[in-house]
Amino acid sequence: MNLCSILKYTASIFHDVIKIRNMESREFLELMECMQRIFPERANSNLFLELYEIFPEGFVVALDDGKIIGFAIGILSDEGKGRILLIGVDENYRCRGIGTRLLKKLLMNLRSSGAVEIELEVRVSNKRAIEFYQKNGFIKIRRVSGFYEDGEDGYVMVKKL
Ligand SMILES: CC(C)(COP(=O)(O)OP(=O)(O)OC[C@H]1O[C@@H](n2cnc3c(N)ncnc32)[C@H](O)[C@@H]1OP(=O)(O)O)[C@@H](O)C(=O)NCCC(=O)NCCS
Repeated sequence: MNLCSILKYTASIFHDVIKIRNMESREFLELMECMQRIFPERANSNLFLELYEIFPEGFVVALDDGKIIGFAIGILSDEGKGRILLIGVDENYRCRGIGTRLLKKLLMNLRSSGAVEIELEVRVSNKRAIEFYQKNGFIKIRRVSGFYEDGEDGYVMVKKL
């Protein structure tokens, strides 16, 4: 049992009451604040606002007492294909199964909209996220050299729904 599993077990004893649901448009600014905390380099609100207008079901949030503490964002790309863009959980809330619940809800939304295969990219150094995606059924299919702006390589991972 790793540290993450122990924390998850503890959270289940204390009946975690974290809600997972689609984001409402009035919560967009709060989502951006949460994104800024977790991914300071990625919070481009104009891009995400455009994506939200095209496919609102691609925005799923986790709430603790009404406050956004995690999110998952995905889009429909090609015919039958979905793409996970970002998933993040505030540091104090990690290892309680919230990331898994966010991902499951987002995958359900993508599947309901016609996706049969989901793709994502992850930094090769992000071992925690790679393990997280593997636990959730994604497999690495290739490594892309210099995928990220700072030159780091990325793995492409896929899952069939
Ligand atoms: C990746 C992330 C979203 C996972 O969220 P989470 O709520 O902590 O994940 P879960 O509690 O659902 O964990 C599921 C599995 O992921 C792996 N995992 C998650 N955090 C881990 C940690 N700290 N150490 C080891 N494994 C970990 C484990 O395999 C875990 O399964 P287990 O509990 O059976 O051991 C979260 O760590 C995060 O926000 N990271 C920073 C942002 C990021 O890197 N996002 C991914 C790229 S977009």
